[in-house]
Amino acid sequence: TKQYTIAVIPGDGIGKEVTPWAKQALEKAAGDAASFQYVDFDLGAERYLRDGQILPDEDLEAIKQTDAILLGAVGDPRIKAGILERGLLLKLRFALDQYVNLRPSKLYKGVTSPLAEPGEIDFVVVREGTEGLYCGAGGAVRRDTPAEVATEVSINTAYGAERVVRYAFELAMKRRKHVTLVHKKNVLVNAGDMWQRIVDRVAQEYPEVTHDYCHIDAATIYMVSDPQRFDVILTDNLFGDILTDEAGAVVGGVGYSASGCINASNEFPSMFEPIHGSAPDIAGQNIANPTAAILSAAMLLRHLGFDEQAERIDRAVEADIEELGSTQRSTDEVGRDILARM
Ligand code: NAD
Ligand code: IPM
Ligand code: MN
Repeated sequence: TKQYTIAVIPGDGIGKEVTPWAKQALEKAAGDAASFQYVDFDLGAERYLRDGQILPDEDLEAIKQTDAILLGAVGDPRIKAGILERGLLLKLRFALDQYVNLRPSKLYKGVTSPLAEPGEIDFVVVREGTEGLYCGAGGAVRRDTPAEVATEVSINTAYGAERVVRYAFELAMKRRKHVTLVHKKNVLVNAGDMWQRIVDRVAQEYPEVTHDYCHIDAATIYMVSDPQRFDVILTDNLFGDILTDEAGAVVGGVGYSASGCINASNEFPSMFEPIHGSAPDIAGQNIANPTAAILSAAMLLRHLGFDEQAERIDRAVEADIEELGSTQRSTDEVGRDILARM
């Protein structure tokens, strides 16, 4: 039996409620195929309020030594927006060079989509994870005066774009062989043009894969008017963030949307998390949907090469949704129901 160490970071709000179910699903799905040792990290709002620590170096070093990370969500209304999001979540994605943010969307049987005639929806967003407007380049001068100037600089490198473009085309080869680049090249002419040229060049190596382009604003239309057109959506960090929340809503809610922050060169551990946040509006009520977190555990298993074990989770989730997706259930009921099917 292969042995792995998994870092568990439940984080804040509903992250704490859904992550135990992801961990249990992981454990049950693995069976005898893999043996997981879990290392729990006390990171997030409580820790910060207690001792001012966000992500101490020793914790980051310990996380680097693990094989994969299971994360819940980060963010708390008691703490100024950005402190934990940048200092913990983005710091992890950047420090571990998780350049592919993989966000699949699938409309499961039994889920009510807000679309009148959704048809079959099954696409994956490949969101760049380490660049763009998320870099943290910029600042504020003359803060809190009428002459204040605030900047956020979007940094896009050919190296950073090309590696995620290649990932998207490789992924398309295993799917319906279509890549849609989403950007705003009519306005963001520098970065947009670079992305388009890299896509056009890499595409020549994948003659079987077709590719097209949408501006981000139009992409948000097609997401609700014609989502079937998408197979692999390739986009930058911020557009990918926004588009995947919309994608989550289209397939019945972000409570079903899992993600992987992947270091595809396997130099550092990858991180698996629901795309949703800590949801302070419903935290503490045992009503958050744990399905996205549980599906993240399946993505973790697949990343480590345990396809069959990942399938166990996917099948249990699929069956659960088909039968009980439209019923009102607590977090724990959904978690128990899914585990019982595995
Ligand atoms: P959110 O995703 O937490 O919530 C948006 C809406 O979706 C809310 O109405 C919430 O109740 C609902 N929702 C989210 N997850 C759900 C689930 N599993 N089941 C049922 N409903 C669910 O986004 P927000 O409200 O913009 O952000 C709240 C906090 O979370 C902020 O601090 C934000 O920075 C942070 N955040 C963190 C992550 C992350 O850790 N990856 C992602 C997004 C937001
Ligand atoms: C997400 C979140 C994060 C992001 C925030 C909390 C930094 O919205 O995982 O989608 O923007 O990537
Ligand atoms: Mn988001």
